[in-house]
Amino acid sequence: MSIREKMKKWFSQRASLIKGGGEKAIEKQKIRGKLFARDRITSLLDNGTFIETDLFVEHTAKDFGLEKQKLAADGVITGYGKINGRNICVFAQDFTVAGGSLGKMHALKITKIMDLSAKMGVPIIGLNDSGGARIQEGVDALAGYGDIFFRNTRYSGVVPQISVILGPCAGGAVYSPALMDFVFVVNKVSKMFITGPQVIKSVIGEDISMEELGGAKTHFTKTGNVHFYSEDEDACFNKIRKLLSYIPDNFEKPVQLNDSLKPSKKFNIENIIPSDPKEPYDMRNVINSIADDSQFLEIQAGWARNIVIGFIRLNGRSTGVVANQPDMLAGVLDVNASDKSARFVRFCDSFNIPLLTLVDMPGYLPGIDQEHAGVIRHGAKLLYAYSEATVPKITLILRKAYGGGYIAMCSKHLGADIVFAWPSAEIAVMGPQGAANIIFRKEIENSLNPEITRQEKIDEYIEKFANPYVAASKGYVDAVINPDETRDMLIKAFDISSEKNEHLPRKKHSNMPV
Ligand code: HXC
Repeated sequence: MSIREKMKKWFSQRASLIKGGGEKAIEKQKIRGKLFARDRITSLLDNGTFIETDLFVEHTAKDFGLEKQKLAADGVITGYGKINGRNICVFAQDFTVAGGSLGKMHALKITKIMDLSAKMGVPIIGLNDSGGARIQEGVDALAGYGDIFFRNTRYSGVVPQISVILGPCAGGAVYSPALMDFVFVVNKVSKMFITGPQVIKSVIGEDISMEELGGAKTHFTKTGNVHFYSEDEDACFNKIRKLLSYIPDNFEKPVQLNDSLKPSKKFNIENIIPSDPKEPYDMRNVINSIADDSQFLEIQAGWARNIVIGFIRLNGRSTGVVANQPDMLAGVLDVNASDKSARFVRFCDSFNIPLLTLVDMPGYLPGIDQEHAGVIRHGAKLLYAYSEATVPKITLILRKAYGGGYIAMCSKHLGADIVFAWPSAEIAVMGPQGAANIIFRKEIENSLNPEITRQEKIDEYIEKFANPYVAASKGYVDAVINPDETRDMLIKAFDISSEKNEHLPRKKHSNMPV
């Protein structure tokens, strides 16, 4: 065969393989409201940058008639390319080929591209759309999942791992996304569950729709399993590109500075924070007032809304923000808020992204529900994550910092490098009302006018403790600052911390409460 003929053969084989399950199957995929896997890669990556690997891989199954079938690219497209000019590795399951089901070779393709991403130190992005373990391949399919989970874990903290749910993701298959750093979902397209509606119906007799059980909105608002929600696939790809702009390629590489952004709009505390300390306000307005160009990429915005997490740039530098949200349950800390913030703190620490903590909360949420949900164990995660983190940690106390929450929200005692407080800060064991009722109980009870005495005692407590000066007098707060100068003070604090180099004591690894 001449070279020209060989090339012709290669070209026609390739042309047939890139059609996936064929035109009809692609049409069906569109009717399901989903993009074809190859179109997804084209949409996500920079134009013309995708290089495909393992297109010619074939399955090795010998049973249930599969041995007679060709499965194009074995139902998964793998390769590398660029997003915003930066290298990434990617895999996209092709639902048009055997429902994107995962067999031995399909898994091998995924593990190979994961290995490449870790070796080359570039993020891995997985586009999931699959009926799960390929039933005809039996234990080989299960083994394939195990091989992927192993790499998700071993490469955790080496390169960022991003998972996008763009179809069904059923059974144990959901555990690869769960092991990755960020999970994206799309309305009506994404479905994630361990056991589907049919199994639930047959085992416990409950009727539930797939959407309610494990649709995008369910996961975004109820389970905390996902980080970003979009209305359609294009919006989702835009969010992935945005996220990548805040995170590095790997744990040894810094995030590129972006000094093209304008400063935030002029900070005006009185427009944002009400003078009555009991009144709520939206902490995101404070974050927007601090961030370059007032841009904030919020993460897990629909779940555990009493805490806000996400990325900003501060004088060009990517910065992770953890902030109580007084607009939701007064910004109290609870089981979910602790889980949400602790995992984020650990992500930032793994990839050397400095942390800004904004504090305004009345402490941990009291009550039997929280106690029985394990608030001790979950709350401990936040203490642990902050104590373990060695990145620059700057804390600003805006208003309330009461009780255990004061310690947990990156206090000096958990290793904060610099702690600022506004003059409006109240740092104490508990709120003035609760404190006065306990320590002055007898005086209030014995008083001829208990209500007046109660108010006097509350005022006395506020005067003595509900301010930043007691903490500042002991060095727990480094500086009480003018709120109007917040952005400038934070920029300087991160600037002095930019060469911080701290190490944990020698050990194998730590044992985080889970
Ligand atoms: C082999 C599969 C498959 C699978 C789907 N297909 N899932 N083939 N193994 N797991 C095939 C179908 O036979 C069909 O082939 C094509 O993919 C499209 O599937 P449809 O059912 O027509 O699509 P749809 O109606 O959209 O339904 C999608 C679905 C459903 C909800 C995902 O296919 C489904 O319930 N599949 C089984 C899901 C499941 O139970 N998987 C195992 C989970 S356990 P044709 O040839 O007709 O086009 C698991 C264990 C992992 O994953 C453990 C890891 C630790």
